[in-house]
Amino acid sequence: MGAPREEFSSKLGFILAAAGSAVGIGNIVGFPVNAAKNGGGAFLLMYAIFVLAICLPVMMAEMAVGRKAAKNPVGAYKALAGENSKWGIAGLLGIITPFMIAVFYTVLTIWIFIYLVMTVTGQLDYLASGQGFGEIINNPYYLFSSMVVVGALIAGILNFGVKDGIERAAKIMMPSLFIMLILLVIFVLTLDNAVSGLKFYLIPDIDKITPAVISGAMSQAFFSLSLGMGILVTYGSYISKKTDIEGSAKLVAITDTSVAFIAGLMVLPAIFSFNPNINPDELSDSSVSMIFVFLPKIFLALQTSIGFFFASVIASIFFLLVFFAALTSLVSIIEVPVSYFIDEKKHSRKKALRTVFISGSVLAILATLSFGLVPFLTKFVAYGGADKSLFDVIYDMFYDTILPLNGLLICLFVTYRWKKHNLNAELSEGNDSFGKSFLAKYVDFSLGTFIPVILALILINTVAKIYFGYNVFG
Ligand code: ALA
Repeated sequence: MGAPREEFSSKLGFILAAAGSAVGIGNIVGFPVNAAKNGGGAFLLMYAIFVLAICLPVMMAEMAVGRKAAKNPVGAYKALAGENSKWGIAGLLGIITPFMIAVFYTVLTIWIFIYLVMTVTGQLDYLASGQGFGEIINNPYYLFSSMVVVGALIAGILNFGVKDGIERAAKIMMPSLFIMLILLVIFVLTLDNAVSGLKFYLIPDIDKITPAVISGAMSQAFFSLSLGMGILVTYGSYISKKTDIEGSAKLVAITDTSVAFIAGLMVLPAIFSFNPNINPDELSDSSVSMIFVFLPKIFLALQTSIGFFFASVIASIFFLLVFFAALTSLVSIIEVPVSYFIDEKKHSRKKALRTVFISGSVLAILATLSFGLVPFLTKFVAYGGADKSLFDVIYDMFYDTILPLNGLLICLFVTYRWKKHNLNAELSEGNDSFGKSFLAKYVDFSLGTFIPVILALILINTVAKIYFGYNVFG
């Protein structure tokens, strides 16, 4: 017998860690802008319905599979389906996906860290200048020194394990993140024209809800809740039988969605106070250009009312908030392959970390170089009518394509292989009344019927759109 499996110390510890995984870069900027541009209140309502009706059952299924097997995704699929079952391939995808997502997430986290350091050291004007971003992402000195710092922070947290590392970091960073977010919202709402931003964010415009917007919202909800990445299987494997999965999953979903919603109360009023006549089409869909190009200009513009020093303080709080969000997500993403090496290859935690960090760093370095520094990596391949960098390829394949596939697989697995009564029994552990609830019936029904169909449609549309330039939904 090896050492007993590590566990979170309490339900609260688990919820904070899982919410830390869920609340990430996309919540703070991507979600608000997407919501505002694509129907405002109508988008928000649709997103909330997706979270409750589609993502929540998938989240509960992932946590239940993880807790029942008490293993990483490969071990979990094998434990529940049989050692030689082909479902092991689904488990393997559940390890490779977070490993590859960690690559592009690391690149974004490094940039955020550089922005944080630069705002703290009084260089907000440089970040707001047209050339700042382009120069930073092509500056090997900044990139590699920041990669070392971010890597050391993540490795330091993961080295302490589940309770003393992941849980403790979440217990510090998540409350800090909430406080910073609320402070920023309060500040931004006092600015001139904040109300125009609120109106733009919240007033429903149902005409903007097209099939493409629906599909995009669904992918965003999936990523935002950290589904399809093996994370909640892995975190689920660290919870005790006493923890009520239904209640925990609901709290994680509510926290993640609330942070995304509240971030909108900060971002949109800030944008409108900077430029009350802004044409919504000028707002970029991409979180990347929003965070790194547009928002620094807005922070700098605050200097006319509060001076450069306080404008830099506000910007620093913002980048620290995004950095915390990114860090707790990255910790969870990297823990998945680490747990694989510990469970399946019998590595010590230290050795597993070494294996994952060495291999992951090579890929992360290559991805970092694919923004112009190395031409071969910058124009790596062409498909769907566009040249793609190595970073784009990883993003397209793992964020857009394999995530819904993994979601589809877990739905089919729990319904048709593991079987509904086993899922139900696991979800009833720590929650005696679950089995007879309406939610239990809904979870049973939805996971075997319309949720996999919706995920399959999203997958088909994504493959057609990205790789062949054809939009199935018009
Ligand atoms: N769920 C994390 C995010 O939204 C990965 O960024």
